[in-house]
Amino acid sequence: MAIERTFAIIKPDAVRAKNAGKIIDMIEENGFSIDGMYKLKLNKELAEQFYAVHKDRPFFGELVEFMTSGAVIVMALSKENAIAAWRDLMGPTDSKEAPKDTIRGKFGTDVGENATHGSDSAENAQAELALFFQG
Ligand code: RTP
Ligand code: MG
Repeated sequence: MAIERTFAIIKPDAVRAKNAGKIIDMIEENGFSIDGMYKLKLNKELAEQFYAVHKDRPFFGELVEFMTSGAVIVMALSKENAIAAWRDLMGPTDSKEAPKDTIRGKFGTDVGENATHGSDSAENAQAELALFFQG
């Protein structure tokens, strides 16, 4: 299995709760390299563009409002099989169903406020990394 790179976000709920450091610890303890990382506040346009795949879903407005509600930390993570490995470490979308040893199980609240984002395919990882990390 080759080294892969994926895109991660520590979402506003986790940054607000000061859980970013604990999440970064889990990332490093699980063997990921952090190739790039910075903090920013998403504006509405960027949040809508980022989650455009969900634009017709009933939760889209709420999702954009949440993702623009405070600062986020974006990261480029690499490891063998990083895309699946990062989604495994995050746990399922609904934090209430997430095992307690996953990031969402530890730091998420529910299906909306779930602490982190991870790319779901190689194509999306490439597109999301390009959106936030140039060069
Ligand atoms: P993400 O894209 O953030 O990594 O999350 P995911 O793949 O696990 O889940 P996805 O289906 O892509 O949903 C994107 C984000 O939208 C919010 N959501 N809210 N209220 C709801 O029913 C609902 N469903 C999804 C979550 O913040 C989810 O992570
Ligand atoms: Mg998703």
